[in-house]
Amino acid sequence: MRIERSETARDLAASCATRLLEVCRLAQAGGRIPTVVLTGGSMGAATLTALATHDERDRIDWSRVRFLWGDERWVPAGHDDRNDRLADERLFGAVGVDPALVHRAAGPDSGLTLEEAASGYADVVDRIDRIDVALNGVGPDGHIASLFPGRDDLLRDDHDTPSVLPVRSSPKPPAERVTLSLPSLRRAERVWLVAAGAEKASAVSRLLGDDAPLLPAARARGRTETVLWADRAALSR
Ligand code: 6PG
Repeated sequence: MRIERSETARDLAASCATRLLEVCRLAQAGGRIPTVVLTGGSMGAATLTALATHDERDRIDWSRVRFLWGDERWVPAGHDDRNDRLADERLFGAVGVDPALVHRAAGPDSGLTLEEAASGYADVVDRIDRIDVALNGVGPDGHIASLFPGRDDLLRDDHDTPSVLPVRSSPKPPAERVTLSLPSLRRAERVWLVAAGAEKASAVSRLLGDDAPLLPAARARGRTETVLWADRAALSR
């Protein structure tokens, strides 16, 4: 795992955004539509804002970028707690994305059950032939997406693990979510773990230490690279 260090959370989001734009620009230069898995949480939000305000923002064609989410909360479309609403507010409103390339998970307002929504999102993920970058905010307990430590029901990675899993009793509210599974995250060419702040220092220290395998954040490895993006405070242990 490569570590990309920044002094502050703001610098970290800017560096991550710079590299993400470069990955998308190179993909488009090669005639491809890049696929980016977005994340929720504080660094997910900060990275979205850094993209929206970046000097190089308009060097890519945002209408030719595919987006999905590593997880989504089981709340109605447009709800404040939705991760896709975060992207709408922080980035999509500022650039011209193609709604047909923005894959949102169904919420309870769809009339589907949580399990049906997870299965439906899995069908979407399974139709995507390549994931260029999977952004993952790292929780204080070392979770990523909605894959939490100790939750063997979520940390499945056998051959018949679905691409998307329903989550109940999430320790982080809201209690119900859908999440990409480990096999899905491992399809990404690049898995980027993003952690900022002293409250992440314990998780980051463990992630870089001997008991890393216990952490979900340690179990998502990219096909070509796995990068930990961390600020000084998160690396302070
Ligand atoms: C979510 C996020 C979650 C988040 C981490 C870190 O839906 O809650 O996807 O995985 O990225 O919990 O969030 P913070 O940076 O806010 O601690």
